[in-house]
Amino acid sequence: MANPQETDAVILVGGRGTRLRPLTVNTPKPMLPTANYPFLQHLLARIKAAGITHVVLGTSFKAEVFEEYFGDGSDLGLEIEYVVEEEALGTGGAIRNVYDKLRHDNVMVFNGDVLGDTDLNAILHTHEEKDADLTMHLVRVSDPRAFGCVPTDKDGRVLEFLEKTEDPPTDQVNAGCYVFRRELIEEIPADRVVSVERESFPKFLSDGRKVYGHVDVSYWRDMGRPDDFVHGSSDLVRGVAHSPLLEGRTGEALVDDSAGVAGGVILLGGTAVGRGAEIGPGCRIDGSVIFDGATIEPGATIKDSIIAAGSRIGANARIVDCVIGEGAQIGARCELQGGMRIWPGVMIPDNGVRFSSDA
Ligand code: GDD
Ligand code: MG
Repeated sequence: MANPQETDAVILVGGRGTRLRPLTVNTPKPMLPTANYPFLQHLLARIKAAGITHVVLGTSFKAEVFEEYFGDGSDLGLEIEYVVEEEALGTGGAIRNVYDKLRHDNVMVFNGDVLGDTDLNAILHTHEEKDADLTMHLVRVSDPRAFGCVPTDKDGRVLEFLEKTEDPPTDQVNAGCYVFRRELIEEIPADRVVSVERESFPKFLSDGRKVYGHVDVSYWRDMGRPDDFVHGSSDLVRGVAHSPLLEGRTGEALVDDSAGVAGGVILLGGTAVGRGAEIGPGCRIDGSVIFDGATIEPGATIKDSIIAAGSRIGANARIVDCVIGEGAQIGARCELQGGMRIWPGVMIPDNGVRFSSDA
């Protein structure tokens, strides 16, 4: 049985998180609070629970934020190292760039924005059983066009890798977790931008490498867009997606001890309320993520939205399916809906102006 103790974990966290702007203007995507922890901390806890202890983070955009928060990883029972790309090297370049830090023959690589319940040891087991050069975790999704489409044969051997194709031949996609044989990583060109999906995977296949898929039906979600981010956080809070950090604490809402929630507030749908946030009387907050230090004034209604740090939502405002950036101020009685994104620091005056990108 492949030994997780003899496996390195590599997490790719250098992307700019463009689809989550403006939340990612100042904070890298894997550090956004999700069920009251930086998203990456849930993944690190899963890695630790699987028995892997050596973790290398491939960072670029806002690289310093990760080390400031996680340090050497000892608080989490891990040994975390950091490798910074001055200029982002792409997913393949990032994997090649950590090569000198690797200690083991099995290297488990993770996209840093995937929420999942997959049994990591089962993927390692498939890798060993197939004696593969590379094993990819695969899942089935309803719309495979946004992902890497990965057809396999009846033995699970990967036939093709088609990144974000308009006409996918199967609904089976790359779940963003791989086990590499270490030598294979050395074959990725060093010191230049490489997409592992568009360049390295097709090359490994055309070179006849043994590339296998590990398919399962566990919970899986890419957190790259606001609606996935908000639903992923809610799924964690409700225990629909499992995180070792939340054991015994799942339910309709998760409220930090330092937050102030007034009487008569209704919190439901897996809402998370962060440190020092203040929620006034009579608010109803459903399926939303309230970051640290946000203030929600009395009587506001918030649904399926992300309210970033230090922002203020005025009394009786109604916010549905929106992203409110850091420090933004939404006046009393405003109504915002339909996927609107309010940039950090923007102020919208009082008095019920109706803003809707659906209009
Ligand atoms: N270090 C580093 N350097 N990390 C990077 C870079 C880089 O230049 N570019 C992207 N990343 C990281 C991102 O931070 C993210 O954690 C991960 O690599 C994947 O990048 P995304 O931008 O989120 O890619 P995607 O979601 O469009 O597609 C990828 O993930 C899908 C599954 O979620 C692909 O791997 C698809 O094939 C896959 O289906
Ligand atoms: Mg992604």
